[in-house]
Amino acid sequence: MIPQSFIQDLLARIDIVDVIERHLTVKKGGANYFACCPFHGEKTPSFSISPTKQFYHCFGCGVHGNAISFLMEYSGLSFIDAVKDLAQQTGMQIPDEPSGGKYHAPPNQENEALLEAMSTAARYYCEQLKRSPVAIDYLKRRGLNGEIAARFGIGYAPDDWQALQAAFPSYEAKALLDAGLVIENEQKRRYDRFRNRIMFPIQNRRGRVIAFGGRILDSGEPKYLNSPETPLFEKGRELYGLPQAQKPIREAGYALVVEGYMDVVALAQYGIGNVVAALGTATTRHHIQTLLRETDRIVFCFDGDAAGRKAAWRALDASLEALRDDVTLAFLFLPEQHDPDSFVRAEGDTAFRAAAAAAMPLASFLTRELQTDCALDTAEGRARFVHEARPLVTRVAAPLLRLQLIKSIAEASDMTQIEVEQAFGIKPAESPTRARSGNPRPPSGPISSRGRRKPTTPVATLLRIVLQHPVWIARLPVDLIPVDDAHGRALVAMIDALSIGELETERGLGGLVEHFRSSEHAATLNKVAAELVGTDYDESVIETLFEDTLRKLQADAISDEILALTRQSRETGLAPGERQRLAELLLEKSQIRDLGSSKNL
Ligand code: UTP
Ligand code: MN
Repeated sequence: MIPQSFIQDLLARIDIVDVIERHLTVKKGGANYFACCPFHGEKTPSFSISPTKQFYHCFGCGVHGNAISFLMEYSGLSFIDAVKDLAQQTGMQIPDEPSGGKYHAPPNQENEALLEAMSTAARYYCEQLKRSPVAIDYLKRRGLNGEIAARFGIGYAPDDWQALQAAFPSYEAKALLDAGLVIENEQKRRYDRFRNRIMFPIQNRRGRVIAFGGRILDSGEPKYLNSPETPLFEKGRELYGLPQAQKPIREAGYALVVEGYMDVVALAQYGIGNVVAALGTATTRHHIQTLLRETDRIVFCFDGDAAGRKAAWRALDASLEALRDDVTLAFLFLPEQHDPDSFVRAEGDTAFRAAAAAAMPLASFLTRELQTDCALDTAEGRARFVHEARPLVTRVAAPLLRLQLIKSIAEASDMTQIEVEQAFGIKPAESPTRARSGNPRPPSGPISSRGRRKPTTPVATLLRIVLQHPVWIARLPVDLIPVDDAHGRALVAMIDALSIGELETERGLGGLVEHFRSSEHAATLNKVAAELVGTDYDESVIETLFEDTLRKLQADAISDEILALTRQSRETGLAPGERQRLAELLLEKSQIRDLGSSKNL
């Protein structure tokens, strides 16, 4: 049996759009991709694929599922073969597991061994830092204090070819090599990858060390040495500083993306903790998606030089598909000679925050950059400008933002909005919330197959909401959820799985549904998930709806208890404790009602 954790890792690494694109011609429309459904004959595409949910759904014939289901249905593969096929595409090794219990997936043991090795190494490097006056002196010269070094687990790899021998019982263990801590030469002799370097542990969202970045003391090449890609560490997905930044991001209401390790720690030392770094790679779509799960405003901070501008442009390029109307992205360019580390030390945190607040909005950056290549005072230059803007703007799915971009392009090129839209080959955005270019786009909100609004229970609504936002499962009150219908039971099963650490809610809908594939909840979850593709709740109301529904659930539970107590008081009378309880319940109920009505005003 393939461990569930492996399947979850696999689903997190692949993109359902890539998987389906290998077999069907898909076209982007809105936030989703569309294709002609391979499971029923049709000429206009109603097979819709959601990259954010990692789930597909055909509005024509109703088929739906995740990437594994697609391969099973489309290629006729068995579940195991579909997983093997995907694993092969990603280069992941399916772990050999003795056939185990039915649904209790063992933790991915190989990864666990690597994680252990990484945490041992991290502890060792920290200890070595304490013992190395040279390394301490270096950090001091760079202005770092001990508290920040400890918060980020900064360490030191001694100037020694096999220092890690002292940290591990066996230097020959496979995990050391697989985790990228040691390198093996042709004679099979091992030596430490990191020597005489300040060590920055790269942690995953849960705070476990998955890689290191090591900075040479003073000068030398390369300045930063990073762990290689390993089963734990895939470049382009991880963000340095994420576990430390999560809370500050929520508090500040935005995330800052910088280029370097030193930038993250220096800003943190100045009280600016909502910062992550993209680890020496360009900002990727995955980075942006990861951050958009934490916040709806991202400020990219780049050096003021040509390289910084180039990096900013790449970040813009990576973000176009991920943009939503409720999301703002902005670009902060520092004065030429500065990076965030040197800027905050020279100008202070207030100046830095002010600069971040005044960062250039994405639309301005896009038009400004395009303009630099085109002489807008000539007709040719203006034509070229519009021509170059086209492939960028058409990738933006968010209707209002796209309209905004079209307007600023029209203005800069001295054309009308309609002319630009015609040049782009897109239908005028008369009503930004409607579908574009003939793509089917069912209206939003829960809709039954007959097109009428279904009467829904609070648990059914909650299920839809948490399938759209799986991280909110953690906010569900398990003791209030009635289990007399399938929706309630599915909710409780999800809360249970989360509470015993079996469920990772950051992995989107496809992963969530996968977790329950062979459980009694599979059918319910699949059905609700399929309805969500393309008809999900509007992001601007979903949080309010969630809270209101929780309140309704609470009110229902209170009403039930009140009813039971009043009936009992009629029939057998109440004990003093029960009378007291009834009074409390009545009070609570009236408070909830007040809250609800003041909200509606
Ligand atoms: P920088 O060269 O701008 O370094 O690289 P920095 O962050 O200012 O570092 P200090 O202040 O000199 O110590 C920015 C980022 O690019 C990656 C690292 O993630 C670094 O933080 N990088 C840079 C590498 O991965 N390897 C290198 O050799 C250089
Ligand atoms: Mn620097």
